[in-house]
Amino acid sequence: MSVVVKDSAIGSGSKNRYRDAPRHPDYTIDQDWPSYSAAEHDRWDRLFKRSRAVLHDRACDEFTAMMHTLKLSESGIPDMERLSDRLERVTGWRVVPVAELVPDDVFFDHLANRRFPAGAFIRSEQEMDYLEEPDVFHDVFGHVPLLANPIYSNFMQAYGKGGQRAISLGRLPNLARLYWYTVEFGLIRTPAGLRIFGAGIMSSTTESVFALESQSPNRIAFDLDRVMRTRYLIDDFQQTYFVIESFEKLLDDCYQDFAPIYERMGSATDIEPDQVLDGDDVVTRGTLAYFNEKRA
Ligand SMILES: [Fe+2]
Repeated sequence: MSVVVKDSAIGSGSKNRYRDAPRHPDYTIDQDWPSYSAAEHDRWDRLFKRSRAVLHDRACDEFTAMMHTLKLSESGIPDMERLSDRLERVTGWRVVPVAELVPDDVFFDHLANRRFPAGAFIRSEQEMDYLEEPDVFHDVFGHVPLLANPIYSNFMQAYGKGGQRAISLGRLPNLARLYWYTVEFGLIRTPAGLRIFGAGIMSSTTESVFALESQSPNRIAFDLDRVMRTRYLIDDFQQTYFVIESFEKLLDDCYQDFAPIYERMGSATDIEPDQVLDGDDVVTRGTLAYFNEKRA
């Protein structure tokens, strides 16, 4: 469940049958796992199968390893209670079902307490390739495997605490960009080449290929200040992907109070999604052809 797509997602019209489910005070709901139909379980299986085929040499090793640890390849939509019991044994995190995107402060409170809010509904047959609102496939398949990685899971908790701080400092838009360009659309450098770790890419077979293999997007080495100043596109592939060195380095960079960084950034101008700056450590300079053709 991503905090950053909220404005566009609410009211998107997708068929979310949990929309009116009764909420607990922390916005969690009862997943009511027995209520999933055979058709819904089958849809998960088909989404899983095609994503696994595309990701086998594109996802980072940490993602693939933890997918096995959590037994996500078992048939059908995961029961979040059973999945959480497995996950909690590894990193202390749990996955909690929610009806739809939750308010920012609630989202950050969950993360800060090692709980990941996940949408309970599954996309319709008409939305197999793209939907705006995060569903159980995006949230569980895309986000949960890396929560079983101790270092990455510490980064996510630190992000939750940083979110609470960003709200109090009025810098949420800057922090949301960090989430967007790492947790959702991050790439990582490995000895075998670039690999995917962002959940937004993992849960899209077309973007999994585009992010790694297309000549259109820029790929730029991660820099915290740079990322927090960079605007992003919510309804198309990314014009720029940021590449981290390792989860250890990402955690190191982000395990700090961001208040001095916000102060240093002050009211510095935003950077456009397709912009490459002189000081950037460019991994691949994009042609932007895909985006220019769409604009033409
Ligand atoms: Fe997400």
